Amino acid sequence: MSRTIASLRADEILDSRGNPTLRIHVTLESGVTVSASVPSGASTGENEAVELRDGDSGRYGGKGVRTAVANVEREIAPRLIGLDPTSQAEIDRVMIALDGTPNKSRLGANAILGVSMAVARAAAAAVGLPLYAYLGGAGARRLPIPQMNILNGGKHADNSVDFQEFMVVPLGAPTFAEALRYGAETFHALARILKRKGYATAVGDEGGFAPDLGSNEEACELIVEAVLAAGFAPGRDVAIALDPAASSFFVEGGYDLARSKQGRKTSAGMTELYRSWIDRYPIVSLEDGLAETDWDGFAAQTAALGGDIQIVGDDNFVTNTAFIARGIAERTANAVLIKLNQIGTVTETIDAVDLARSAGWGFVISHRSGETEDTFIADFAVAMGGGQIKTGSACRSERIAKYNRLLEIERALGKASVFGLPAALRRTRLAKE
Ligand code: PGA
Ligand code: ZN
Repeated sequence: MSRTIASLRADEILDSRGNPTLRIHVTLESGVTVSASVPSGASTGENEAVELRDGDSGRYGGKGVRTAVANVEREIAPRLIGLDPTSQAEIDRVMIALDGTPNKSRLGANAILGVSMAVARAAAAAVGLPLYAYLGGAGARRLPIPQMNILNGGKHADNSVDFQEFMVVPLGAPTFAEALRYGAETFHALARILKRKGYATAVGDEGGFAPDLGSNEEACELIVEAVLAAGFAPGRDVAIALDPAASSFFVEGGYDLARSKQGRKTSAGMTELYRSWIDRYPIVSLEDGLAETDWDGFAAQTAALGGDIQIVGDDNFVTNTAFIARGIAERTANAVLIKLNQIGTVTETIDAVDLARSAGWGFVISHRSGETEDTFIADFAVAMGGGQIKTGSACRSERIAKYNRLLEIERALGKASVFGLPAALRRTRLAKE
């Protein structure tokens, strides 16, 4: 059949941090060739699927991916040639079995995911559909509200801010294109404010500014100031989302706000801190407010704050249905961050989304801090229909590529496109006010 897989190739390319990653090329019998590139995180959850690195200190400080490239071409390719790319679940199952480990550490989750994504793209091309329509069906027409990371700290920057990400959420915009404008104009207003105050305007890994602020809280104040300066109403037009990535400052059983010199806090102390912020700033979503091992703390936090804001789990769930199921049973969040490379195949990522959805939870399709120009997650967000994406600031082309793809999708859908608060955000306090 002309649409079966004829060949599979892998290249070692660089990600947005200049570290090696994989680009996979799939060619079908028909001659159609597509490719997909794999992202890479910095503040990774402990239970993520394993990104295979060469460990050869003579190349890229050991971060080369030639072994993963070889695994694609020598081990995976022979098993997939001749298969129909629309058999995504079957192809992903074959790769999981071939790997044989629980965390994809033998072949590498980077090798497996790259193939999985490229296969999805090849299938879409084979059936003549855009990727979002192939993966999401005829109902895929909801554009996501972006969580745009405009101030960075933690592991994504070298500054005095402990919390990793302060994001703007243009939830009051009428369309995705307008949401992007609200976010970009707020980003530009923030640049002017930072300059005026004598702060640096260099950006971190996801394109947000990374100034040496006096405290974590000052970030919220500056964002509100920027939203107002850009002519928007804080909370109504543009809200705030946080990803402290608290595992990265969880030291010996406590939360150590060392960078900002704010001392140590207990789990309950952190939740109190967030409560005081929620009461003062238009916060709509909090991701990884506690460490990935702090399951009891997360349950208490969800009980305390989950009626008012979205509580998102990232490092604790790692897009893995086993951990998400535990979170649902123990009520440790009300939403999940979804990152394809945390679990390593498209099929398992869809399973994670389905599980979140079946529990009535929200979900946010996300980039990694190390990205490429690949726009897979833009289509994936529309296909899954959860109405939320997190893909960085209003600068750096690896982030903007996703936004530009979403603009393209919104335009292609025309009047059929849908934009607005998904259920997960409709139940937040801000939406009800
Ligand atoms: P990472 O950061 O890609 O470095 O893990 C993103 C996040 O924590 O959400
Ligand atoms: Zn996160």
